[in-house]
Amino acid sequence: MWGLFFLLLVSGSVQGAAPNAAGIASAHPLATEAGREVIEAGGNAFDAAVAVSAALAVVEPYSSSLGGGGFWLLQRASDGRQVMLDGRERAPLAAHRDLYLDEAGEVVPGRSIDGALAAGIPGEPAALVHLAEHYGRLPLSRSLAPAIRLARDGFPVDRHYRRMAEWRLDALRSSPAAAGQFLHDWEIPAEGELIRQPDLASTLQLLADKGRDGFYAGELAQRLVKGVRDAGGIWSLQDLQQYQVVEREPIRGRYGELKIISAAPPSSGGVVLVTMLNILEGFQIDNLPRVQRVHLMIEAMRRAYRDRADYLGDPDFVDMPLQALTHPWYAAGLARDIQLERATPSTPQPVSKATEGADTTHFSIIDREGNRVAATLSINYPFGAAFVPAGTGVLLNDEMDDFSARPGVPNVYGLVGGEANAIGPGKRMLSSMSPTFVESDAGVAMLGTPGGSRIISMVLLAILELADGQPIAQWVRQPRFHHQYLPDRVEYEAGAFDDKTVTELQSMGHILHRLEREYGNMQALYWDRRSGQVTGASDPRGSGRTVIW
Ligand code: GLY
Repeated sequence: MWGLFFLLLVSGSVQGAAPNAAGIASAHPLATEAGREVIEAGGNAFDAAVAVSAALAVVEPYSSSLGGGGFWLLQRASDGRQVMLDGRERAPLAAHRDLYLDEAGEVVPGRSIDGALAAGIPGEPAALVHLAEHYGRLPLSRSLAPAIRLARDGFPVDRHYRRMAEWRLDALRSSPAAAGQFLHDWEIPAEGELIRQPDLASTLQLLADKGRDGFYAGELAQRLVKGVRDAGGIWSLQDLQQYQVVEREPIRGRYGELKIISAAPPSSGGVVLVTMLNILEGFQIDNLPRVQRVHLMIEAMRRAYRDRADYLGDPDFVDMPLQALTHPWYAAGLARDIQLERATPSTPQPVSKATEGADTTHFSIIDREGNRVAATLSINYPFGAAFVPAGTGVLLNDEMDDFSARPGVPNVYGLVGGEANAIGPGKRMLSSMSPTFVESDAGVAMLGTPGGSRIISMVLLAILELADGQPIAQWVRQPRFHHQYLPDRVEYEAGAFDDKTVTELQSMGHILHRLEREYGNMQALYWDRRSGQVTGASDPRGSGRTVIW
């Protein structure tokens, strides 16, 4: 008996059972504080996830909202259960595949982006209720309290808020309720001015008091539907009543010793990520010179992103060969035509666009019991559809733009959008959001980022840094590059490649496109199982905050 105890102690199994600290990394300091407050009040990581999600919906309205959705990847310490909570938006029941086309069959610019017709049925409120009821320890009202306070008392405008509002100013001005909520006298508020959202505070309070019915039924639901329909949208009360979150089995893969657990469809994230890693594993890239390594990473991205459009969509509507797509043998087949010295040109073939809006948000949480959450939430474009139904305070998403608007019809490049992601009543639109856990005997990482279609390649780059033994600050800060099959070019941040690498990649046939701006806002945590220590990092490109305590 004592022998067994001693054995466990020296093997680290006892010491490594739980982290010696809790940690939260989120894109906004006030959201991180909301999560800490709830853990300190006796909540677990799932209660904190409710608090952080709701606070982000208040203080980062350009990234997520109660009127949006997301994916919450969970690990419950007590039984090791891992699940992806799918709170993705759904198309309204009155939606149809030609919703955004004119009589000539052309996509009407802006129709799936600005205003009430662009909005899918929100999933975030249902997901928060589900998290609290099935995984949390505190009442929903306690976990929502910080967000209610922030909505009622206000938060100060910062430079990023101003930049996002500037980008969406015309659209915000088209919705009187959105303009009243996010602008001051129809203008962008100055830095430091407070954004108070009394209607949103009341809506959050309804959710806290009544749970799901506070949002999806009763007076608020009627206001949401009336506001949408009066502005040309197609929501019905039935849409709201029918909305359900779904618990889905995450996508799993391996990269050497690392276990990858990531987002399942309707996100393409996990499948594309695992495919890229499977391709790279076949090349043993660790010992290769930098340029060779980068070349292979680009070729892996090219091939995995190509598949995304061919196969992926809402699993409740589309049969997908997920086991095959994430199998190393399949990746070996994809890799067969990779040349070590030459870029493979991308040829026009059926693919849909992979450009989901860049404004989304991510947070990672771990508590002292080892419960963990990686969650990526979105309303698509900055400030979503820039539309608020009067009297609700709920900023609506424009996630309908993530469907392929013209499946089967060639666009100007001769490309055909993916049928799997065609618009259908009640269907969830394909996403790139990729909340991810990476596990090994040594430790566990929780990570993710906003960034539209680039999300998945950003998570790949971070995992490769982790595999290289780099510190967590490097995962989030490294200069990034991306290829998504089409357009056939490598987009890269300043500093991603030195001059020699640029020249060598070009001589291999890669088309390089240096971006004017940085992208992404990764929030990552790492629990070292051997020491129990938790570390974390918020992307220096954003103004997020990590706390470990
Ligand atoms: N709208 C961003 C995404 O779902 O990937």
